[in-house]
Amino acid sequence: MGSNENNIGYIYYIYWFSTVCVFIKILSSLFSLLNNYFLPHFRKPQDFKLYGQWAVVTGSTDGIGKGFANELASKGLDICLISRNEGKLKNTAKEIERNYGVKTKYIVADFTNPNIYSHIKEHLIGLDVGILVNNVGIFIDKAEAFSRHSEEHIKNVINVNMLSTAMMTSIILQTMIVKKRGLIVNVGSAAAEVTAPYLTIYSGSKAFVALFGTGLAYELKKFNIQVNTLTPSFVSTNMFHKHARAKNLLSLISFTVPSVELYVKSAILTLSSGDVKTCGYFIHEVLLMTVRFISVDILNKLIQVWFAPRKQE
Ligand SMILES: NC(=O)c1ccc[n+]([C@@H]2O[C@H](COP(=O)([O-])OP(=O)(O)OC[C@H]3O[C@@H](n4cnc5c(N)ncnc54)[C@H](OP(=O)(O)O)[C@@H]3O)[C@@H](O)[C@H]2O)c1
Repeated sequence: MGSNENNIGYIYYIYWFSTVCVFIKILSSLFSLLNNYFLPHFRKPQDFKLYGQWAVVTGSTDGIGKGFANELASKGLDICLISRNEGKLKNTAKEIERNYGVKTKYIVADFTNPNIYSHIKEHLIGLDVGILVNNVGIFIDKAEAFSRHSEEHIKNVINVNMLSTAMMTSIILQTMIVKKRGLIVNVGSAAAEVTAPYLTIYSGSKAFVALFGTGLAYELKKFNIQVNTLTPSFVSTNMFHKHARAKNLLSLISFTVPSVELYVKSAILTLSSGDVKTCGYFIHEVLLMTVRFISVDILNKLIQVWFAPRKQE
């Protein structure tokens, strides 16, 4: 009899303990949404020129990178663009100068090549770089089992998504530490937050970006250097539209896929919140929170079904 009463007592405590934990989790999620996506509208806009006159953006001739380059130029920063296509770099640089009256510079570099960093470093000498946006990234060629990826593709993803983030940060960090100011924005992906069968090399590389970025954020606080990692879900760019499977999803989830301009404006607002990692977009954050709350495993199974190779491909 006594042991039965004891058991009921334990169950009662476990029930209340779990309820309180869930309640705290929900409250902290709601606070984080409020802090990242609503309160910034009422805060004094961040003066990005306080970090330094130049912003360096990798992968900046299209998509999210170009969006960041435009948005930062609109705030009066001079922009250094780095991508691999010289024609596109020239046009983007001219467009930015014409639209915002700021200075630009471009560096032609293909991040699949791991030996480009001394070339980039040379071209950055003398610039007062206050902001680095580690944006460049490539997705998988096509959704298929990791065992079928070519050696070249595996190396490309690692070099473009991971090595570029670490090396660009290392190059620019030295002067930021001396000047005791700076902002580094890493563009990761929601694919790193949920794990993604058939996208494994991509999601793994983005998990590196997220862990590297959040760790650095704490490490560099004492030097007054801010590091933010963004983990967007789908954004309407070439990368998204090029991928048939992702594109097919669009008809189902178009309300969750913002334009580049909308995404970048929202992401830039979240930088002032003090959180070291956000999705950068309200709907993406709600989706990620919901998935984490319900079950990441269910999402993994859905991703697996959606991206698994099909016979006709
Ligand atoms: N779009 C999405 O749905 C989504 C979702 C989550 C995360 N992200 C992340 O967001 C970042 C930007 O993606 P995006 O969708 O904006 O891509 P995008 O539209 O394909 O643009 C990629 C940019 O990177 C440049 N680039 C590509 N490969 C390069 C290389 N090897 N060397 C130098 N530059 C290179 C491209 O320029 P050139 O071709 O002219 O060189 C272009 O300017 C990536 O890190 C991606 O993983 C995107």
